[in-house]
Amino acid sequence: MLQHSFVLDSLETTGADTFEHFETLIDEHRERQDSPQPSRLQQLVPTIGTFHTPLPLRDAFEAYNDKHKLTKRKHIQISFNELRHILNLAQIMAFSDRRKILRAFSDIQDDESSGSSEKCSQDGRNDGETIGTFHGPQLISFDGDQTLYSDGANFESNPKLAHQLYTLLRHGVAVAIVTAAGYEYNVEKYEYRISGLLRYFENKQLTPEECNRFYLFGGECNYLLRLGPDYRLVPVPEEGPSGWLTATQSLKDSPANWSEQDISNLLDSAMATVEYTISELNLKARAIRKKRSVGLVPLEPGKQTEISRESLDETVLRSHEALRKMRNGEGPGLPYCAFNGGTDAWVDVGNKRVGVQILQSYLGITPERSLHIGDQFLNTGNDYAARDVSPCIWIINPQETTYILKTILRLAGIAPHDKMDGHDDGTGALTKRPSHIDFDEMERRSQAVQKMDVYTGKMVTMT
Ligand code: IMP
Ligand code: MG
Repeated sequence: MLQHSFVLDSLETTGADTFEHFETLIDEHRERQDSPQPSRLQQLVPTIGTFHTPLPLRDAFEAYNDKHKLTKRKHIQISFNELRHILNLAQIMAFSDRRKILRAFSDIQDDESSGSSEKCSQDGRNDGETIGTFHGPQLISFDGDQTLYSDGANFESNPKLAHQLYTLLRHGVAVAIVTAAGYEYNVEKYEYRISGLLRYFENKQLTPEECNRFYLFGGECNYLLRLGPDYRLVPVPEEGPSGWLTATQSLKDSPANWSEQDISNLLDSAMATVEYTISELNLKARAIRKKRSVGLVPLEPGKQTEISRESLDETVLRSHEALRKMRNGEGPGLPYCAFNGGTDAWVDVGNKRVGVQILQSYLGITPERSLHIGDQFLNTGNDYAARDVSPCIWIINPQETTYILKTILRLAGIAPHDKMDGHDDGTGALTKRPSHIDFDEMERRSQAVQKMDVYTGKMVTMT
């Protein structure tokens, strides 16, 4: 529909109406979700999924077009990425009311052009920031790699993003990192990967109640941890009256209901596919088997010898095929996720659908009040599964995550507090910029350093 309008040079007059039409189709589809009669949208797109909220697409398009003037273009159509941005915006707007939306957008533009800055008090907590009801999602789950930090890197220093996560926690929002990276309950491995964020929380003196709202789900849905009052992660008990496995036994796909035999059959099949693919395609890669996953990763830990996207996708699709064929075509009988992680490929037992659903059930939050933010929404990606149980935002890097959070906070009525007085060292503490060269530090950095192999969790020496 947009292509026609572009070719006929009528986007300027029809663009907003077209988005409104999509909006109507979605509303109609939502109303008919439980009816045996397919909606008009379903007839047009038979594979269409669930919409957990309405999507104010006209407002989103108008706000985006006001800023980026898409409809003034004569030679370049509205692109896939721009559609992704508009849909993201509509999804965030769905949590807010219309008047606030329009005000927030004029504010964001003013703020960007004037470069206004945040004032922080000396104790690091913002003066005058009122904590009231948060008009936005009650649970925001984040993918890790490429959403909060670059692929294979760690959350070391990103004060802007750390501050936004801190602000969400302070306003009563439950924040969870739901990542495929799994190191069982080796707490220090996860802490290593988000050390900058934890340091930021500590320097800001997040209260025990606020810390309590921060979760990390490792291995998609296998290892649940929570932030303690001492800013260290602690495993949430699995069994017993407050155990998360006990509490989620009624969810069919919960790990509480998996059998060890099914797990090992699934991993055997995945391992055979991965090993065969490495040898047949002559890949510079190795296979790893963990308790709940099988990975195809670059040969040398730490050195990112690239495996081509094509080879990784081929591995993923072969794994899908092999798993589907298990038990005479019944599949492995467990939720799973085979995905291309950008530099590696994995088959995990469990997936983010189960991870997000467990958090929702454990925290008593409905899908309409949840949001999952991630970068892997192709059918070879691992955030894709979360779409079944939660509204989602598709970003492509941590900078886009920051932009999304800024918009969420704006729409929730929270003033921007992104920038700091003084020189922030990225840890949340206000420090003086060093006036001399630190030779000890230079020496330390130039020597071989110990780093963690993000695939296995082993410490390796790097030069
Ligand atoms: P996510 O984007 O936060 O879900 O993390 C995905 C990345 O975690 C993968 O691309 C891997 O580099 C890394 N990873 C480490 N261990 C595992 C594992 O056991 N399963 C899947 N991914 C893992
Ligand atoms: Mg990711």
